[in-house]
Parts: sequence; C-alpha cells; structure tokens
Amino acid sequence: MLELACGPGRWTVQLLQHATDVTAVDASPEMLAMASTQVGEDERVRFVSADLFRWQPDRRYDVVFFGFWLSHVPPECFASFWSLVADCLKPEGRVFFVDDGYRTADELIEGEQSATIQRRLMDGTPYRIVKVSHRPLDLERQLEQIGWRIKVHSTSGPFYWGAGNRI
Ligand SMILES: C[S@@+](CC[C@H](N)C(=O)[O-])C[C@H]1O[C@@H](n2cnc3c(N)ncnc32)[C@H](O)[C@@H]1O
Repeated sequence: MLELACGPGRWTVQLLQHATDVTAVDASPEMLAMASTQVGEDERVRFVSADLFRWQPDRRYDVVFFGFWLSHVPPECFASFWSLVADCLKPEGRVFFVDDGYRTADELIEGEQSATIQRRLMDGTPYRIVKVSHRPLDLERQLEQIGWRIKVHSTSGPFYWGAGNRI
C-alpha cells in the first residue's frame, strides 16, 4: 500500500494490519519522525520525504490511501493530484480516502466559496491554509469526470470516505 501525506502515522499503523508493506510519504520531516516513532521497528514500512506536488512514484501499488489530505489539495491541483494517484496504482489498483469538510465561520476569511481559510496555531499565530469543503455527491461526479469510479460515503458528522478505482 501507498499512504500519501501520512502525517504522524496514525493511519500507517492501521494499514500495516492489512498490508504486506507500506510506503508512507509526507513533506514534513517532523511528521515523518513522529510516524516512525508511532510505527516502531517494522521493516515493512518505507518512509519517503517528498512534496506530493512534485513527487513521482518508483513503483506501483495495489492500494493508495490518504487520510485528511484531499481537502488540502488546491482546486487547481485536483486533476493533477488524481493523475499522480493513477500513476501510483497497478491496473486493478484501488484507492481509499477519508476526510472532512469542517470549517468554522471565523475561519472563512475569504468567504464560504473560497478554498482558503485561516487557522491559528496554539500560540495564536494565524496561517492561511487550503481547506476545500468537498460535498460527497459533487466529489463523486468530479472524480467521474476525470476517469474515476469512486463511491463517496458521508457520515453523520462532517466526515466522508471514498473508495473505488479507475474507470
Ligand atoms: C491534515 S495532515 C493529515 C495527516 C494524516 N494523514 C492524518 O490523517 O493524521 C496533512 C499532512 O499533509 C502533509 N503535507 C502538507 N503539504 C504536503 C505536500 N505538499 N506534500 C506532502 N505532504 C504534505 C503535512 O505535513 C501533514 O502531515
């Protein structure tokens, strides 16, 4: 399996319960260090430090997973990101993701329609970040238009998850 934007590794340990091996990619050395600690000694994991908007895979995978990453992909990078996912998968490969569309009113500094919001660190420092509020049905249609058959399920809260493959 390939995990994109693995962060501190909370999903990596879950994936390892099902996968023979996991390649976990993230741009942040701090996150990768946390993920490595979380996973512990396990030869089945390979951590890769890379910017996903520039990275190219060196092999193909049965499954690509990303947790709480898609909502941070800028709309103008949506298609190229999914093209990367396609390049990472074997012909019968599957993709699975989980995410949320949670944005509070005070975060919407550019309005409801904008993908840019403002979030603060615990010390109060403000940062502008990309947080796209995908709606499950719209996301399904958007993905179908670029060649994916993915069923997106919503939960009772702001969360959703999707699973599928190339058409
Ligand atoms: C919201 S966190 C999700 C982490 C993890 N998947 C989880 O669910 O706990 C987003 C992650 O994306 C990583 N990230 C941000 N920009 C990135 C980029 N351009 N390439 C690779 N990783 C990136 C961050 O370092 C962070 O670990």
